[in-house]
Amino acid sequence: MINIAIDGPSGAGKSTIAKTISKKLNIMYLDTGAMYRAVALYALENGADLSDSEAIGELLNNIDLTFIDNGTENAVCINGRDVSKEIRRHEISKSASEVSKLSKVRDFLVEMQRKIAAENDVVLDGRDITSNVLPNAKYKFYLTATAEERARRRCSELKEKGQDVDYQKVLQDIVDRDYNDMNRQIAPLVKTEDSIEIDSTSLAQEQVADLILTHIKEIDGKSVCPVNTAVARLQDKEIQAVAKKTKRKSIFIRGFAAFVKWVMGGLWHTKIYFKDNFIKNSKAVVICNHYSALDPCVIISRLLGKNGKVMMKNEITKNKFIASVADELGCIPVKRGEADLNAVKKVLSALNHNSQVLIFPEGTRNKNENFKEMLPFKAGVATFALKTKSPVVPMMYYKKTGIFKRNKLVVGEPFWLDEFYAQKPSEVKDVATDYIRAKMVDLRKEVDLLVEKCKGSKKKYLKYKRLQSKELYENANNRSQE
Ligand code: DC
Repeated sequence: MINIAIDGPSGAGKSTIAKTISKKLNIMYLDTGAMYRAVALYALENGADLSDSEAIGELLNNIDLTFIDNGTENAVCINGRDVSKEIRRHEISKSASEVSKLSKVRDFLVEMQRKIAAENDVVLDGRDITSNVLPNAKYKFYLTATAEERARRRCSELKEKGQDVDYQKVLQDIVDRDYNDMNRQIAPLVKTEDSIEIDSTSLAQEQVADLILTHIKEIDGKSVCPVNTAVARLQDKEIQAVAKKTKRKSIFIRGFAAFVKWVMGGLWHTKIYFKDNFIKNSKAVVICNHYSALDPCVIISRLLGKNGKVMMKNEITKNKFIASVADELGCIPVKRGEADLNAVKKVLSALNHNSQVLIFPEGTRNKNENFKEMLPFKAGVATFALKTKSPVVPMMYYKKTGIFKRNKLVVGEPFWLDEFYAQKPSEVKDVATDYIRAKMVDLRKEVDLLVEKCKGSKKKYLKYKRLQSKELYENANNRSQE
């Protein structure tokens, strides 16, 4: 059986990473923390004193814990009731830590965990998997991050769920739970000597999952890679047939997407000014004014790198075929009007993997055709650029793009938001957004100068700028001599 054991303090990202790995290897995921949480919930519901070992021991006789892991959904049930949501409540975290100190509870749950591991290929995460539940597991990892980073992640999770949280309190809770988990008498959280430690403080979750998979391959050597073992189980003919069809389809979609890209780049004339300002080989948040559905097309086909991404409204994904082509072209669909966590994660991951991500900061098309002024900016651009310390590349269309027009797109100089790096992104995202908008307003002035005063001639524009700075210099000189 493949048993992958992951331990670490709370908030280190174990469960998300364990889930990702289980999906990639097509094996089961067991969240052992959820088991302690379920026992705590049941104890609280039955009015038991959490430190009373006898009383809780009695309750265990009445608990039937089951798990659903059908690939799309992970659920924990107590006596057939799905409690997956309830056990995530803040007060249950503390109570789970309390009941996890009791030997009766641990014996009960550890026995279940060992049985599941003996009968299934499974990724388990918890506190004592590498040291106590499966000390002989072949793949053992210890995942950690600084307490401050873990608290920050927890706060943003809770805030995204609409809960009001105090960072200092969350941090204190994390420190307390670490202390409890690491100092309890039975099976405390430790990093065993044979576990591979991964510090995820400055890594994206995808990167951590990839790192673990790389280590697994290394542990295995080339011959018996668990990825192959897991895939080998998919012998079922039906599954193979589906796989074949998907492969054929993906070749067609890839070909079609390449064709679309080619058409999008050449069908309507667009002159791109200062293309050299565009960052092609490393991460960048690319922003642009937006007033036509054609706007992203030229950028996708003529500017973005191979792994470039574009945030787009998720309405495009309604049709399955268009959704597959859009995905192939790097579109990240986003649900508008709500916090779309999935899209946020994809953008952060793309930036952390050195891709450029195009975002229209106005969030929607500017319907005013005589556009000079942009709509208010959303805070997403600032948040992404701050969280990943990416440069921002500003771009500006002169007018609404049209198929039979001579369109003009100007790429401005990239800038970084480093003056805000010392503070938390959530605290400075609004000022940073104002800063980004001011940069776009400056770029607008340059675009007008280039197109209107200099008749779209880059040569004239550069000459004008040279003269302008010379004049400024002379004026300053004259003044200082007066
Ligand atoms: O990972 P979590 O926060 O959901 O875990 C809840 C509590 O359960 C945590 O405080 C420690 C405890 N726990 C444990 O003692 N042993 C495990 N294998 C998993 C969790």
